[in-house]
Order: sequence, then C-alpha cells, then structure tokens
Amino acid sequence: MSAPSLTLRRFPDSAQMCAAAARQWVELAAAAIAESGRFTVALSGGSTPKGLYELLAAAPFGEKVEWGRVEFFWGDERAVAPDRPESNFYMAERSLLEKLELRPEQIHRIRAEENDRGAAAEAYEAEIARVFGVSAGGKPPSLDLVLLGLGVDGHTASLFPYSEILHERARWVAAHYVSKLGADRITLTPTIINGAAHVIFLVAGAEKAAALAEVLEGPEDPERLPAQLIRPISGQLMWFVDGAAAALLRRGIGDKGDAP
Ligand code: 6PG
Repeated sequence: MSAPSLTLRRFPDSAQMCAAAARQWVELAAAAIAESGRFTVALSGGSTPKGLYELLAAAPFGEKVEWGRVEFFWGDERAVAPDRPESNFYMAERSLLEKLELRPEQIHRIRAEENDRGAAAEAYEAEIARVFGVSAGGKPPSLDLVLLGLGVDGHTASLFPYSEILHERARWVAAHYVSKLGADRITLTPTIINGAAHVIFLVAGAEKAAALAEVLEGPEDPERLPAQLIRPISGQLMWFVDGAAAALLRRGIGDKGDAP
C-alpha cells in the first residue's frame, strides 16, 4: 500500500504502544485547542484502545489535557444499549469518560440501540454537522483525530469486507447489517474518516499480524481489506503497532518504543 503520509511506529508491547498514543493525544489536543479552542476526536471501540483510555484518565497524561475543550464522537457503535459491555460507548465511559469532569454536551454518542438505525445514523450525521456548524450531507468536516482499530479480517470501524457501505461516498455516517456478525452496526464512512486531520490506528497482538501485513504491504484489495480505504486526503495517517502485530511486516520499523 503506497501511502506517502503513512507513519508506522512499532513498540515492544501494547502498554508502550498505548503510552505513546497517549503522548500523541496530549500533543494533538494541545495543538487543536490552541488553534481552534477545542479538540474533536472520534473514539474507536473494541478492546485495544482500552489501555489508551485508562492512561488518559489518570496522571501523568490526564493532567495534560484540557478535557473541558474535548468533543467526543465515536467511529462506530454496536446495536446495543449504552450500558451493555459490548457497547463501544460503555467501554469508553468506564475506562475514561466517567473519570473526567465533562459536560453532557461534550459527549456525542451514536444511538445505535434505536430500532430505526437508519434514522439514528442520519441523526448522528446531523449532530456532527451541528457541532461543526456545517450542513449535513455536504463536504464532511475535519475531525482533529479519528482513532481506529484493525480486525483480523482487515475491517476497521464497522467497515467490514465486501459490505455495500464500502462504496458509500456521500454519507458521513451509515447503518448496515453485518452478515458475518449477524448484527447491525452504525459507522463513520471513509468519506468523513479520510477528511480527518489525524487518523491513528492502534493494532496489537499476534492475531493481527497477518491482517496488518496484508493491509500495509499486500496488494490493494479494499473490498477484502477495508482498512486500506483509510487514506486521509490531507491529514496524517499513523499506525501504532506492537511487536507481535508487526511480526510479519517486511518494512523497516520506526520507533523502538518510548518509555511508558
Ligand atoms: C468495534 C471496532 C472495531 C475494532 C476492531 C479491533 O466496534 O469492534 O470499531 O473496528 O476496532 O474490531 O478490535 P479489538 O481492538 O478488540 O481487536
């Protein structure tokens, strides 16, 4: 995958990967707040980012972020209530949000538990448009940061292989039935993700090594490997990976890892 703006940073283990990601978050938040008065971030779900969220909730990283200036969005959500362990909101709430003093209006949750998921996706797009002061359906706004994970099948957010949604070019948010999961999901589309100023993938664990090598070094095949659709138009793309996930990469690796 030829992505000139791609930065790959490898760390000995996921703890050091998360510590580096926390440092990056602190830096990006300070710069965004200095420039625009706020930091708009879309959180990723799954399990990998939990370590990052827990670090951000505590010293030393947590003390370095002006949390009252952060607008929290999500990259995707499962069709479950927000108090269920499978919920991406729930994981972020328990590992980070409930430990911060936030105003409710800073938290922009995807209401994927609603029966009409199509309407919920439209409502989420409208919420994003409202926060950014733009019209829904037009050119997407630029989130300061989108965090993403990588599935063993090459999916990211809820962009799964061979899904119709991979071809969505207009909408910023869409709901779809994921046949391999037998469940509905709501997800940001590549259209808005690729408009972000910074996109950071966090990938850890040996079980991700094959997918990571295919996504980064294999032939272009975004239908099969949707993470290859993530190519920020003008923003920075960073991959933070641990050694186990990077084990099958051919390319030289960047950082040997920062001290936590
Ligand atoms: C989700 C995520 C999904 C996740 C990957 C990796 O809702 O599950 O958005 O894209 O990031 O599946 O998940 P893990 O971090 O649990 O391996």
